[in-house]
Amino acid sequence: MIRSKIAGIGKYLPERVVTNDDLSKVMDTNDEWIQERTGIRERRYGKKHEETTTTMGTRAAEIAIERAGIAKEDIDFIIFATLSPDYYFPGCGVLLQRELGITHKEMGALDIRNQCSGFVYALSIADQFIKTGMYKNILVVGAEMHSMGLDFSTRGRNVTVIFGDGAGAVVVQPTDNPNQGILTTKLRSNGTEAEKLAYINPGAHGGYHAQKMGEDVDYGYPPEDTYGGLFITQHMIDNAQLFPNMEGQHVFKTAVVKFPEVIMEALNEQGMTPADINMLIPHQANLRISQFVQRTLRLRDDQVWNNIQKYGNTTAASVPIALCEAWEAGRIKEGDLVCLAAFGSGFTWGSALIRW
Ligand code: ACO
Repeated sequence: MIRSKIAGIGKYLPERVVTNDDLSKVMDTNDEWIQERTGIRERRYGKKHEETTTTMGTRAAEIAIERAGIAKEDIDFIIFATLSPDYYFPGCGVLLQRELGITHKEMGALDIRNQCSGFVYALSIADQFIKTGMYKNILVVGAEMHSMGLDFSTRGRNVTVIFGDGAGAVVVQPTDNPNQGILTTKLRSNGTEAEKLAYINPGAHGGYHAQKMGEDVDYGYPPEDTYGGLFITQHMIDNAQLFPNMEGQHVFKTAVVKFPEVIMEALNEQGMTPADINMLIPHQANLRISQFVQRTLRLRDDQVWNNIQKYGNTTAASVPIALCEAWEAGRIKEGDLVCLAAFGSGFTWGSALIRW
């Protein structure tokens, strides 16, 4: 039976380090509050006008391709996960293809929008395409340039201090080695609380969802007898409706239940227990969430990789960055059982078990 393996992995973090003290100069926050609630000490921001979600994804992809020992022309499918795309459309997948310089070969490029669980979803999609024999070298990328779209006033402090920029990528290939590869992936969603962690405007919703939920939100729409004008309004700009919003405590409470649940689902299916995990790579949402999950599953410190302290929450990039970092540190070896898990906006969540 064909299985999928991760043949190469890379990461890219922009050079600019932004500390909690740096943020406290532009908004009412402080290092103590941020570290105590999230574990974050600093994060990276991409270089304005020179770096984008696509360019960072490209840097990570180049490393993954080199480590896989293939040429960029060997890539036959791209899957790009991000919530901060360069353009509303087209997606970053085709832009990455161009940045990589693969201009003379046509391939498939797919963008997915699953926020924090984006990379786990993307890896699962790649796994299915490999198992059916459709593709041989799939490039899976998770990248984010959050710093472009956050609210750097005190109003946005609960969200802004959490997020950072970066990218991670893997090359997924088939293997017939029965002792290696992706054993299973589990993907879950529940859209009933979609707005609890969301970036709502600009968008084509026209106020529909708020109205249906009985919420009286004014987006400053033009009169009914005009065409268009709903996607973005001056009112949205003037009233800070163009920023992400998050009900932090609710997200926290849901995440600490769903993370262990979906990890256990994958382990149970494989007849395994948390003790079998050599390395858990949790989405770096918040250090407190990761610690809670670790305690629930009774994992030792050496079984869990955390790097949110240095990079903040990089959403779709956080799992591949952490996976790459753990691998580069020699903490993931051939034959190890690696578990990836993520939870985020949607809500969507998922897990993957990989025999390295
Ligand atoms: N600096 C200083 N004070 C702040 C900041 C800040 N950056 N942000 C909020 N506060 C204040 C609030 O205004 C509030 O003040 P008040 O008591 O005077 O009203 C106080 O701190 C407490 O605010 P809460 O939002 O209740 O703080 P909480 O303890 O819930 O911590 C946090 C907030 C860190 C966001 C937490 O809820 C959390 O981690 N939630 C999980 C969400 C998460 O991880 N999101 C990541 C993205 S989603 C994902 O990847 C899963």
